[in-house]
Amino acid sequence: MPKMRAAQVTRPGGPFEIVEREIPQPGAGQVRIKVQACGICHSDSLVKEGHWPGLQYPRVLGHEVVGVVDAVGAGVTQWQPGQRVGVGWHGGHCGTCNNCRSGDFFGCTVNLQITGISFDGGYAEYMIAPAIAIALVPDDLSAVEAAPLMCAGITTYNALRNSDARSGDLVGVLGLGGLGHLGVQYAVKMGFKTVAIARGKDKEPLAKKLGAWRYIDSQTQDPAAELQKLGGAKVIIATVTNGDAMSAVQGGLGVNGTLIVIGAAQSMQISPLVLIGGRHSVKGWYSGTAIDSQDTLAFSVLSGVRSMNEVYPLERVAEAYERMMSGKARFRVVLTTGL
Ligand SMILES: NC(=O)c1ccc[n+]([C@@H]2O[C@H](COP(=O)([O-])OP(=O)(O)OC[C@H]3O[C@@H](n4cnc5c(N)ncnc54)[C@H](OP(=O)(O)O)[C@@H]3O)[C@@H](O)[C@H]2O)c1
Ligand SMILES: [Zn+2]
Repeated sequence: MPKMRAAQVTRPGGPFEIVEREIPQPGAGQVRIKVQACGICHSDSLVKEGHWPGLQYPRVLGHEVVGVVDAVGAGVTQWQPGQRVGVGWHGGHCGTCNNCRSGDFFGCTVNLQITGISFDGGYAEYMIAPAIAIALVPDDLSAVEAAPLMCAGITTYNALRNSDARSGDLVGVLGLGGLGHLGVQYAVKMGFKTVAIARGKDKEPLAKKLGAWRYIDSQTQDPAAELQKLGGAKVIIATVTNGDAMSAVQGGLGVNGTLIVIGAAQSMQISPLVLIGGRHSVKGWYSGTAIDSQDTLAFSVLSGVRSMNEVYPLERVAEAYERMMSGKARFRVVLTTGL
């Protein structure tokens, strides 16, 4: 049987192991993808460090996958070998439960699948994905360019386009990491007065280069007060991993403003008085489905939004993951298989 390389984790907190495995066969309704690139998302730490309840090991991480359709299983008519495709966090749904039928695929109560959690992801040369979870990748984007858009891109793009903000509104993007640096670009291209908020002065030139109108250094300035000086934000997307940093921007919302929580922080504090006085909302947002991915890719091609990437070969996965976790990557770390 032909073999492939995969980077697996065998226990919570365990190291990455590069192993040889048989190339898996797609079952009914599934597609096999020859993986070319896979981004490393901070959410992969939930799997690596064992913070996802009930997770089965060994597991191959990775939900920012781009490659080529290599084989299709029984009943798959919409995909053919040779097509360039991607898979994100949303790994499939039943399509027939009440929530799916109303379009709420993340609310699927029968068979919600998460890539790299429910089934093996893209830190490998080949992976199997449900046909329903796959997005077509336009020729204008290379595999390395497209991969980070499958989670970091779609999440920030989708949160912003489904928000109450309208062209010209003041929008804050908290955090300039993998998600944040794309969030700033999408906000700019959607026509918002975009304020980037991050720790330290060193990220200011990068934020400006990405198109931010203003930059707030959360280490030397009070982000809530600074946002109020600018008129108060209609929307703030919080892409950070830290709850205190999220709490510190709540007071920067304008009347009827919304704080959209994207970063998977442990907890945060909300001031009820500020919430009531400003008629604020706080809501969460997760990435999106395959069609949202296609929209994200198309908008990125149209508007020139691109992820800034640091590229590592698959065999250096441990180093690449540490680089992401260090917070020093500018801004997304992407693995390549050489296929
Ligand atoms: N909701 C969803 O669907 C979804 C999708 C993807 C990821 N996520 C989550 O989004 C978060 C960001 O992911 P990522 O891949 O962009 O991570 P990343 O590239 O590692 O960036 C981490 C971000 O967190 C901030 N941060 C880290 N430690 C901090 C601290 N002590 N205080 C304040 N800020 C801190 C950094 O802020 P600075 O810029 O100031 O350095 C940076 O912007 C993660 O929690 C991830 O799990 C959620
Ligand atoms: Zn992700």
